[in-house]
Amino acid sequence: MKRLAVLISGNGSNLQAIIDACKTGALPAEIALVVSNHRAAYGLTRAERAGIPARCFPWKPYRDAGRSRAAYDADLADLVAAAAPDLVVLAGWMHVLGPAFLDRFPGRVLNLHPALPGTFPGTDAIARAFEAFSRGEITHTGVMVHWVVPEVDAGPVVATAQAPIYPTDALADLEARVHATEHRLLVEAIRTVL
Ligand code: GRF
Repeated sequence: MKRLAVLISGNGSNLQAIIDACKTGALPAEIALVVSNHRAAYGLTRAERAGIPARCFPWKPYRDAGRSRAAYDADLADLVAAAAPDLVVLAGWMHVLGPAFLDRFPGRVLNLHPALPGTFPGTDAIARAFEAFSRGEITHTGVMVHWVVPEVDAGPVVATAQAPIYPTDALADLEARVHATEHRLLVEAIRTVL
């Protein structure tokens, strides 16, 4: 059974999609560890309810102690490596990981980003797509899963899917459509790479 480590920062709806897919057998894998960088992440509750080892590993103590992001990334890598994952999945993980983490898991870190390749890197991608649509600059947006490289949201693409935007949409409608697309695409992408 392949082992997954899933990193989250918030609600964890993408984590939930992986949990459900493992439970139904749609994904031939088990989640060995969930790590959140925010204590209040509801995804930690989702993990605990599913009986999955879950840890909170915040950046703030490192920052307050004047320690570097590389020190945080290295210690995070130790924590994740201890779970012996075959694949590390960044599912709504909102902290840019540098070589001190990535070099520990070469070719084994996947990221989910709620935009199409080469569009809207970084945060608030869905809202920025919605604004671009409102300005008539785009007709649709989408989602991608890619291998992680030091440049943010820019590694080789594993899977991508489009999400339409309708004139009647409010931002919340587009967010719901994009998240539903993410939940499906992420499970498909993990299955593909495993
Ligand atoms: C998702 O859109 C993810 O791609 C982005 O933040 C959101 C987190 O969703 N990075 P969740 O925590 O998985 O519900």
